[in-house]
Amino acid sequence: MPVSPTGLRLLSASDVIDQLRALRAQQPVKYTAFYSSQLGGIVTDPALMVIPFDDHMVHRGHGIFDTAGIVNGKIYDLEAHLDRFLKSAERSKLKLPCARAEMRDIIIKTTAASGRRDGSIRYWLSSGPGSLDLMPAAGSQPGFFVMIFPGLVYPDKWKTEGVRVMTTTYPIKPPLYAITKTTNYLPNVLMQMEAKEKGFDNGVFIDHDGHVGESSNMNVAFVTNDNVLVHPKFDHILSGCTSLRLLELAQKLVPQGQLKEVRVTDVTLKDALAAKEMLLIGSSVKVAGIVQWDANTIGDGKPGPISRALLQLLEEDMRTGDRLIDVPY
Ligand SMILES: Cc1ncc(COP(=O)(O)O)c(C=O)c1O
Repeated sequence: MPVSPTGLRLLSASDVIDQLRALRAQQPVKYTAFYSSQLGGIVTDPALMVIPFDDHMVHRGHGIFDTAGIVNGKIYDLEAHLDRFLKSAERSKLKLPCARAEMRDIIIKTTAASGRRDGSIRYWLSSGPGSLDLMPAAGSQPGFFVMIFPGLVYPDKWKTEGVRVMTTTYPIKPPLYAITKTTNYLPNVLMQMEAKEKGFDNGVFIDHDGHVGESSNMNVAFVTNDNVLVHPKFDHILSGCTSLRLLELAQKLVPQGQLKEVRVTDVTLKDALAAKEMLLIGSSVKVAGIVQWDANTIGDGKPGPISRALLQLLEEDMRTGDRLIDVPY
């Protein structure tokens, strides 16, 4: 085994592959397929699901991503997630590696190659490798990556007993960065870590005007005492695909009298705390009732009927709605 003058091993390509496999043996993951434009295809061995360290997405955070769900062998609401992905790319001055239809096709084919019938598809766009500079490397090619994995899992008691959140002490991202789904999730990560450290399940950002923002990777919404479903405006938070869809589906509860109205507006912390129900909404969590915010109990301290009704509408849409794409397994 060659060694460098410092005594560190000089690794061959096969040493590196062995080491990557050993790493995965220590830290098993359930990534079932990965497409990389840099590798030129799909790999199913998690040890090979890699990206060069000098990709601008890795060392400067110049990259974007999005996540769509696989439900019963179909992809749910991919067009909405791709719309947001393209908007994030434009705001981040990232070039596309190919046309939208081709990216969509790669996502579907990678899902098929994974064999996974329930889970998540996360895909990224990077400006590519080639330097450690602030500017993207001259002539670098955008990287497109697609990972198929089981999806994020939350404790069952989030559904049965509800979720406890705290107002984070971390500042909300400025609007441009909040509405763009970049790989810069440091505030979101710190917020979630802070919440766990303090015995809560998650945090919520409040903006500089005292308006409620969003949670770490989920939106929040409220049901007022007179049955209005209220969602914060999307000008300072991410446009959650799940929230946008639910705001449409929630209209079905109006003629039945369960809701009086659905409204997107600024929500102050005071108004939020006066709500009789609070919801967390997102592709991974779907809909979960918030039962405590800081020291305040929300409603009767249990997930409420609107959160259950919205979850039902969403699950129905995910099973039988018109936003499903077949996967050619
Ligand atoms: C910061 C943030 N807000 C909200 C959401 C919810 O978005 P979606 O419903 O598309 O999962 C996400 C998840 O992507 C997120 O990361």
